[in-house]
Amino acid sequence: MVEKINSLKAEIMQLSAANVAEVEALRIKYLSKKGLVSQLFNDFRGLSPEDKRALGAPLNELKDLATNKINELKESLESVSSEADAIDMTRTASPIKLGTRHPLSVVRNEIVGIFSRLGFTIAEGPEIEDDWHVFSSLNFAADHPARDMQDTFFIQRTPDVLLRTHTSSVQSRVMENTQPPIRIICPGRVYRNEAISARAHCFFHQVEALYVDKNVSFADLKQTLLYFAQEMFGPETKIRLRPSYFPFTEPSAEMDISCNLCGGKGCSFCKHTGWVEILGCGMVDPNVLDACGIDSKVYSGFALGMGVERITNLKYQVKDLRMFSENDTRFLEEFTSAH
Ligand code: DAH
Repeated sequence: MVEKINSLKAEIMQLSAANVAEVEALRIKYLSKKGLVSQLFNDFRGLSPEDKRALGAPLNELKDLATNKINELKESLESVSSEADAIDMTRTASPIKLGTRHPLSVVRNEIVGIFSRLGFTIAEGPEIEDDWHVFSSLNFAADHPARDMQDTFFIQRTPDVLLRTHTSSVQSRVMENTQPPIRIICPGRVYRNEAISARAHCFFHQVEALYVDKNVSFADLKQTLLYFAQEMFGPETKIRLRPSYFPFTEPSAEMDISCNLCGGKGCSFCKHTGWVEILGCGMVDPNVLDACGIDSKVYSGFALGMGVERITNLKYQVKDLRMFSENDTRFLEEFTSAH
């Protein structure tokens, strides 16, 4: 029996198991009721008192050894699997890809920011409009070509429902509902029936500004434009006003800025003129004030309107207008550092 105990001890010390099921098999083999160790205890009962005294301790040692060994194997396997499942708190966090603001939103926010520092507040109007707000109230003659199907998306003819072709429609909506002083900035999307190409799109974005009060003069307009241009394109920027025509302003002008790429020296971007056009503006035509319920004998005002895509192109040289609406992430990710 001593030999049996010793050989089992040696055997048990060498035990190994690849998984929990194998450990269980070992437990059954050695420690279950009919297991090898338990059998020795059965044999032990039939021994003489002398032998019992001599073998009691070694037999108990064997049982302890087997119990400990099997527990050890079980624990080591369990701890391996739980370690693999556990979250490793020491690992560096994997970087989360944050979205970027669309370049048009970046520029729109910048324009709105500049005008809000001058006391302008945002006004918004509907994109689905009627003839009165887009054309008639703004002094467009009945036969003005902009009303043509070629330019305007009509949804319905009578009563007329159309997509606004400019954000000037927000001017008339605000003037109808508010008495001066009015100082608003109107960003928004506009629609025109144009074939889509690198240089034209059937929808784009504009920002309109309107200031109506007593004694508003062209000098106020000019100073506002200069402030805007220098805030947007840098303090060295010069402005130039060229006479123009819009139905809703009299006099009307178009504003150029000194080319921000070559500093006015002349380059391919400004077609070697040193100037690039950025917006339309003028003094609100008295007919428009009167049509919207504002007394043109008491009040005067200026208005201006610009394309957000145009300003964005000047800032970031985006060659193809279609890039703005294609949502190609390679393009959008270039603006990660913009705010
Ligand atoms: N609405 C004009 C356009 O879409 C832009 C514009 C020009 C707006 C002159 C104005 C303005 O307020 O005074 O081309």
